[in-house]
Amino acid sequence: MRASHSPPLPTHPLTQNRDGKKDSSSQQQGKLDLQPPRGTRDFYPEEMRVRNWLFGHWRQVAREHGFEEYDAPVLESEALYVRKAGEEVTEQLYNFEDKGGRRMALRPEMTPSLARMVMAKRNGLVLPVKWFSLPQCWRYERMTRGRRREHFQWNMDVWGVPGVEAEAELLAAITTFFARVGLTAQDVGVKVNSRGVLMEVLAALGVPEEKFAATCVLVDKLEKVPLSAIQDDLTALGLEEAVVLRLLEVIQSKDVEGLEKAIGKDSAALGQLRQVFDYAKAYGFEEWLVLDASVVRGLAYYTGVVFEAFDRQGELRAICGGGRYDKLLEAFGGEALPAVGFGFGDAVIMELLESKKLVPALPLGLDALVFAMEAGLQTTAIAAATSLRGAGLAVDLQLEARKTKWAFKHADRLGAAYVVLVGAGEVAEGKVQVKHMATGQQEAVAVVDLGTWMSAASAASAAAATAVQP
Ligand code: HAM
Repeated sequence: MRASHSPPLPTHPLTQNRDGKKDSSSQQQGKLDLQPPRGTRDFYPEEMRVRNWLFGHWRQVAREHGFEEYDAPVLESEALYVRKAGEEVTEQLYNFEDKGGRRMALRPEMTPSLARMVMAKRNGLVLPVKWFSLPQCWRYERMTRGRRREHFQWNMDVWGVPGVEAEAELLAAITTFFARVGLTAQDVGVKVNSRGVLMEVLAALGVPEEKFAATCVLVDKLEKVPLSAIQDDLTALGLEEAVVLRLLEVIQSKDVEGLEKAIGKDSAALGQLRQVFDYAKAYGFEEWLVLDASVVRGLAYYTGVVFEAFDRQGELRAICGGGRYDKLLEAFGGEALPAVGFGFGDAVIMELLESKKLVPALPLGLDALVFAMEAGLQTTAIAAATSLRGAGLAVDLQLEARKTKWAFKHADRLGAAYVVLVGAGEVAEGKVQVKHMATGQQEAVAVVDLGTWMSAASAASAAAATAVQP
């Protein structure tokens, strides 16, 4: 019973519409809005199978490169994302005050959480740290193709390696993944640059270092808007016209020779870029790489090499992006520690893979459907399913009375390799009928032997299938 002084009960969150406002019509009718919040997705089982397939590749590639998985809360202190360089990511923060009056945010990216974790255990960690994660990230983003308000993002980061050996290893992982899912260097490429190039240019023109991050964020915007649109911001930052013109000249370089002309052969940043390309040759992924001095990236914390994967048809937003961020721990009040990593979202890559028909048909992968043909045989069906499950097989046990014809159709829908028919005749002898769906062959098997029998039969048909493959 509610006391008379209790506050009114809040309306059910599911009766709020997608913009979070109360929907008067649904309130009146008490109907749920069946859409997930704007910019977010439900994952029905068939979509979840695709997501798991993608995540499986990401995990596999990360493990092949010796990376360990970590995780962190999706909810963080807002302070973790307070940076003053005018980045989109901070403007798009999902932030709020919690019931204890603390400013909180849903993570828009994983890097600050990772930095927090590394900083917390700094002295106990064996360097280099090579970690990966698959976080869901939240950004209050204007919805466009490939950009939504939540996305999953494969992250791989290396801490404690100052040289571009780490960049090369990360680029190797990215291109390995591309090849693994059937993409070629004609479909996608990775643009590589170094913010060191801009740093050198700005230093030569006498621009103070503290303006560097904000300048990079503005230069990054040039990809989307004309110079006139950010001219006021550049002026507010105190960048004279001569500096801006020089920056524009440098970022137009599209190869090593162009950059050499623009900044000189002895540039340290250019030396690092050359080394990345040399390593790419050693790994064998150089055909995927493109030097592009206009890639600066929109996040403030990058300090060195930056990179972004793109589709060569130029139809989609960046597929993934990353770079070196050696000073992030310093920004959090810690001691600097070299770091480099990337974030790779699930949205753009899935669009690309779907358009190229590279997403395989993903069956449920069930081994068997166990089906009692008559009422009263369910206990034997349970024994059969238990025997199979005990052998590690994936089994759907039919839970309600259905016709045999329906059971076969259902087994087909589920992609079950076998149907186990529990009928009165065999049950008396402690047996069941097992039908192999692909061949139609059927045989009676003792319930007690069922698990061992089906494991052996599945292994034999898997071996036969591999043998016939070219
Ligand atoms: P980012 O460039 O902001 O970098 O995001 C990385 C990738 O996440 C993008 O290339 C894209 O694939 C995906 N992504 C970002 N925003 C959205 C969105 N609204 N919808 C769908 N996909 C999106 C970072 O987040 C850095 N923390 C990456 C990093 C890790 N740098 C070093 N370590």
